[in-house]
Amino acid sequence: MKTILVTGGAGFIGSNFIHLMIQKYVDYKIINVDTLTYAGNLENLKNIEKHENYNFIKANICDKVKIDDIFSKYSIDYVVNFAAESHVDRSIVNPEIFLITNIIGTQVLLDVAKNHWKKEPHNKYNIEYRNDVKFLHVSTDEVYGALGKTGKFVETMPLMPNSPYSASKASADLIVRAYHETFGMPINITRCSNNYGPYQFPEKLIPLMINNCLNNKSLPIYGDGLQVRDWLHVSDHCEAIDCVLHNGDNGEIYNIGGNNEKTNIEIIKLIINTVGKSEKLITYIKDRPGHDRRYAIDNSKITTQLGWKPKFSFEVGIMDTIQWYLNNNHWITNIVNGDYREYYEKIYK
Ligand code: NAD
Ligand code: DAU
Repeated sequence: MKTILVTGGAGFIGSNFIHLMIQKYVDYKIINVDTLTYAGNLENLKNIEKHENYNFIKANICDKVKIDDIFSKYSIDYVVNFAAESHVDRSIVNPEIFLITNIIGTQVLLDVAKNHWKKEPHNKYNIEYRNDVKFLHVSTDEVYGALGKTGKFVETMPLMPNSPYSASKASADLIVRAYHETFGMPINITRCSNNYGPYQFPEKLIPLMINNCLNNKSLPIYGDGLQVRDWLHVSDHCEAIDCVLHNGDNGEIYNIGGNNEKTNIEIIKLIINTVGKSEKLITYIKDRPGHDRRYAIDNSKITTQLGWKPKFSFEVGIMDTIQWYLNNNHWITNIVNGDYREYYEKIYK
């Protein structure tokens, strides 16, 4: 029996992770803490909202008193920290909230976990922790910056983030690492490449393009469209997190990726052709400032040391994903119209 505090569980990856955990571990309790920003959507969890092993708590990870209450009320064994402002374009328009949530929020969670997990009586300079706890921080390959035409990100590379989003994530990684080095906190950091799959907010490339195609709206491509991203199905990412949570060596960082490098234009043309629209919808627009040219993950550490490997080929995963958005068009329509928010605001005030 374990109790997992999942932060940001109403978002894209967090909700997929909760589905996996509830299904896989029948004796685990999941506490989902999410402040429900524009990206948090409880519809993603509708089919488990009454599950006996699942609790939703509307709270901000920066609210130390509330997070402390949650640790006191539930005996938390693991923290999996997904909560973040996650969209690069928004971080260019308004960096401040990225620093607040992604850095301060992470530090608040670390501090509260440290206080609850230490063994009593504790020595200030040599804290001993319960040996069955872990803080898993979900990070991104963007902390490494951009690659040229060749090479892949490995865990030992220096951090060279280029956007306010990736700089805030890199800062969070460093503070998590510092809590391990200074206070001996049991931690792991995972750094994953671009995810795709069900429940992704339609501001991100793949759901945005699918939705625009369905509504015959133009498909905005930044710059020349030849930027490369390394795509991984969200369920493979969630299984990798599960694997690191249970088997990762204390203090280690693991890259997660599926060796699926694609240019943006390739992805967009594939979507257009799959949903039967015209390439005339494509519109080349001004490039994203500081746009990283290429990401690619070297996943050999997690594959060789922990035995994780992705199950989805890109070809199958992307077709399933497009089909999911076609079958669940109401999910995006509800987001666009904001219907679900009013309903849940009444329930969770
Ligand atoms: P998302 O934007 O879909 O979800 C983020 C969730 O966090 C939302 O539910 C939101 O309401 C919640 N949240 C935001 N601020 C909060 C706060 N202060 N307190 C509590 N909850 C808060 O993001 P995502 O794509 O699911 O990404 C989840 C995590 O994975 C992020 O940390 C992101 O950096 C990381 N990541 C994402 C990808 C990707 O491709 N999407 C890849 C690698 C890593
Ligand atoms: O690499 C992991 C990261 O992937 C995560 O850490 C981020 O949270 C996640 O948002 C994602 O970041 P990107 O910036 O790579 O994702 P996005 O979907 O915004 O863009 C993917 C690529 O497509 C990028 O090169 C920019 C381009 N793009 C995006 C949009 C939204 C366009 O050309 N047009 C668009 O309208």
